[in-house]
Amino acid sequence: MKIGIVGSGAMGSGIAQVAASAGHEVLIFDSNPLAIEKARDALQGVLNKLAAKGKMDDATAKAIFGRLRWVENLSDLAEAGLIIEAIVEDLGVKKELFQQLSRIVSPEAILATNTSSLSVTAIAAASKDPSRVLGLHFFNPAPLMALVEVVPALQTNMAHVEWAKKLMQDWGKIPVIAKDTPGFIVNRVARPFYGEALRIYEEGIANVATIDWAMTEIGGFRMGPFTLMDFIGNDVNYAVTESVFQAFYYDPRYKPSFTQKKLVEAGWLGKKTGKGYYDYSPKADNPEPLQDESLGRTIFERILVMLINEAADALFLGVATRDDLELAMTRGVNYPKGLLRWADDWGIENCVAKMDLLYEEYLEDRYRCSPLLRRMADSSLHFFN
Ligand SMILES: NC(=O)c1ccc[n+]([C@@H]2O[C@H](COP(=O)([O-])OP(=O)(O)OC[C@H]3O[C@@H](n4cnc5c(N)ncnc54)[C@H](O)[C@@H]3O)[C@@H](O)[C@H]2O)c1
Repeated sequence: MKIGIVGSGAMGSGIAQVAASAGHEVLIFDSNPLAIEKARDALQGVLNKLAAKGKMDDATAKAIFGRLRWVENLSDLAEAGLIIEAIVEDLGVKKELFQQLSRIVSPEAILATNTSSLSVTAIAAASKDPSRVLGLHFFNPAPLMALVEVVPALQTNMAHVEWAKKLMQDWGKIPVIAKDTPGFIVNRVARPFYGEALRIYEEGIANVATIDWAMTEIGGFRMGPFTLMDFIGNDVNYAVTESVFQAFYYDPRYKPSFTQKKLVEAGWLGKKTGKGYYDYSPKADNPEPLQDESLGRTIFERILVMLINEAADALFLGVATRDDLELAMTRGVNYPKGLLRWADDWGIENCVAKMDLLYEEYLEDRYRCSPLLRRMADSSLHFFN
């Protein structure tokens, strides 16, 4: 089966590499010929480097590159059995593309979108046969990140979802099924990692270095929230938060922070601009963490219980299964432990008590406890045995 890719930017070229490495001939189209040129050079460079480092032999690298075909017209994708769209994150533009694609491809082809934040259902509705459209949400960089969220639209035939899931496994990926809701799994469940850290900072409870220290040294996370936001880019992280907030009809749980907005307005986007929450210039004078164990525990526990609450609520609302939620957070964003497993280890009653304490203190809807956690605590249940 030939794979079509539309959009040869960061995601499209990464997904093309994954598909070609799995043995498919890959047809890549981009409306900007310069983007194609850039992607071709970048992929050649990546494969050369992998061969030079001994990660694959020269012949394999050449064969993978040889399976990439850079096409000039969208109609050249006609022979593809699966087309993955990775163009600009704009619903109108994506809908138009799906309309065009469904006129070009065979009636058996599957059309997938890599959107992070738009409705797969709305995109599917633009195509001739919405039952053959689904979301395949890869993470950046696609060749390195194992997780793929497979997202059925309301109209998708579930047989195609199973087919896509199996294909992702064949490509060496870890697919999870996510309901077509804002942020799918990872971009929804991970929101408090940033949002609650920002809130703690804004309240003056601790500086960014102390919050990062608490999450890495006490919590065991690979990166603290502020280091991670600087790494992702504050513009990108803010845009996701804002779009999830809007998509949830302004649920205060997902409210963006002014602190982050100001950083974006200042152009302090993080590592890529040399300044974000931290200063990345050689002689920078960055804040030191206050390594106070008790303060660190308070910070870590407040952020973690908000994450657990979000994961439990996602399960409660049928966004994903228990096991897919755990896989998504451990394999997608490398959390040291699944959040539901963590809830069990802490005790569900303890989680409920922590949420209720936050709610009693602030009286904000943001701190409402998931009904699932409360019901489980009342019946002394666990997520796992
Ligand atoms: N970057 C990430 O971390 C990330 C992660 C997961 C999903 N996504 C999603 O993947 C998609 C692509 O993101 P990206 O970061 O690769 O963007 P990008 O800007 O790097 O690349 C987009 C490419 O699409 C091309 N393009 C734009 N409109 C087009 C059209 N109508 N037809 C053909 N080509 C067109 C552009 O020329 C560009 O080369 C977006 O939907 C984004 O939300 C991004």
